Amino acid sequence: MKKIMFVCLGNICRSPVAEAVMAHLIAEKGLQKKFRVDSSGTSAFHVGADPDPRMAAAAEKKGIAMDHSAQQFVKEHFSKNDLIFAMDKSNYAGVTSLTQNSKFRDKVHLFRDFDLQEIGSDVPDPYYRGGMAAFDEVFEIVERTCQEILTKLLAKKL
Ligand code: 4NP
Repeated sequence: MKKIMFVCLGNICRSPVAEAVMAHLIAEKGLQKKFRVDSSGTSAFHVGADPDPRMAAAAEKKGIAMDHSAQQFVKEHFSKNDLIFAMDKSNYAGVTSLTQNSKFRDKVHLFRDFDLQEIGSDVPDPYYRGGMAAFDEVFEIVERTCQEILTKLLAKKL
């Protein structure tokens, strides 16, 4: 069983949609016994909140339901997860700053290092950009990147 955690800032837009998309891809392939997904935020701004309704609407249009209650990423998550994907470089810095342990640091990856269309970019923060286009764009990035991550996982390249 590999445990996968996605991390953004507020845990109401980017990382919970990545969790929902990845859970959907895993279920489609009947791999629920092999992988477990979760998400969190580097901030405590929205702890306990439902996903942002704009993000949930963008996912819903594509047939993906989001069901998550926001939580903050805490040190204990390093040992409880095998792979940690940060949605942007600021989230990456926020997570890695919480540990000096190289075993834990090696678990942390930048999400879009697996986006073949734009390796190494950030998933743009849609929260203050307003307009559904920003959320639709996040969904597209997340969908194709999750597909690539799962392909790599199944090929044992991750
Ligand atoms: P997320 O988006 O990190 O993708 O969940 C944000 C949500 C809330 C805030 C910023 C980004 N905020 O500043 O409250």
